[in-house]
Amino acid sequence: MKVKVLRQQGPFGKPYWQTFDYDGDKNASIAAVIDSINYRDDITDSEGNPADKISWECSCLQGMCGACAMVINNVPRLACDTFVKDLKGDTITLEPLRKFPVISDLVVDRGIIQENLKKVDAFIEEYHKETEKDPELEYQIGRCLKCGLCLEVCPNYVKGDNFFGPLFANDSYFIVSRSKEERTKIKKDYKKHFAKGCSKSLACQKVCPMNIPTLASIAKMNRL
Ligand code: SF4
Ligand code: FES
Repeated sequence: MKVKVLRQQGPFGKPYWQTFDYDGDKNASIAAVIDSINYRDDITDSEGNPADKISWECSCLQGMCGACAMVINNVPRLACDTFVKDLKGDTITLEPLRKFPVISDLVVDRGIIQENLKKVDAFIEEYHKETEKDPELEYQIGRCLKCGLCLEVCPNYVKGDNFFGPLFANDSYFIVSRSKEERTKIKKDYKKHFAKGCSKSLACQKVCPMNIPTLASIAKMNRL
C-alpha cells in the first residue's frame, strides 16, 4: 500500500505531499502505520529519497485523549482508532485537521478550543450536587475529548469567529445541569456563541469518536 502524507515543515512552511510504501499488517491502526514508517532504520519515500520522520501527536493510543485527530482518506478521525482494513483502496492519505493552524506535518494547534472556553469561563469552580434529570447525557458529555473533530466538520465553525462550535453546546448543558450559579450566564453565552450560528447540519454528531449526542444537548439548551 501507499501512504500519502501532506507534510509541512513548521507553521510557515509550504505544504507538499510525500508518499511512503507500507507492506505491514492490515489489522494495524493508522497510528501504528505512522510509527512503522517513523521507526524504520532509514526512512525513505516510495521513490527511495531520504525523508524525515512524520510529525504527529498521540498520547493514549486507545481513543481516549483526542491527540491523534487528523484527516484520513478525507474523513476526520482518530488515527489510533482507525484501521487499515476498514479503509477502501490501496492508498491511505493523511492530512492535518484543516480548521486549525499547522505546527508541523500532522500536528495542529487546537489551543483555540481552550481559549474560547476560557473567554466565557465555561468551567465549574465547585462541585454541585444539583443536576438536571439527565445523568446519562451528562455522563456522555463528560467523555468529550476536545479533539476538535466536530469543529473540523462543522460548516459554521470558523477560527476566530463568535461561534464556538458543537462542543460548546455540550459544555453549556453540562454547566447548566451542574451549577445553579453559572446557569444564567452560560445561557446567555450559549445564545451568543452557539445558538445564533448553528444551522443543525449535525455533521458534528456523526463524526464524534465518543458518540456524544450533541443534538440532545442542543435541544435541551434551546428549550432553556
Ligand atoms: S464533541 Fe466529540 S468530536 Fe467534538 S471535541 Fe468532543 S469528542 Fe471530539
Ligand atoms: S492517541 Fe489518544 S485518542 Fe488517539
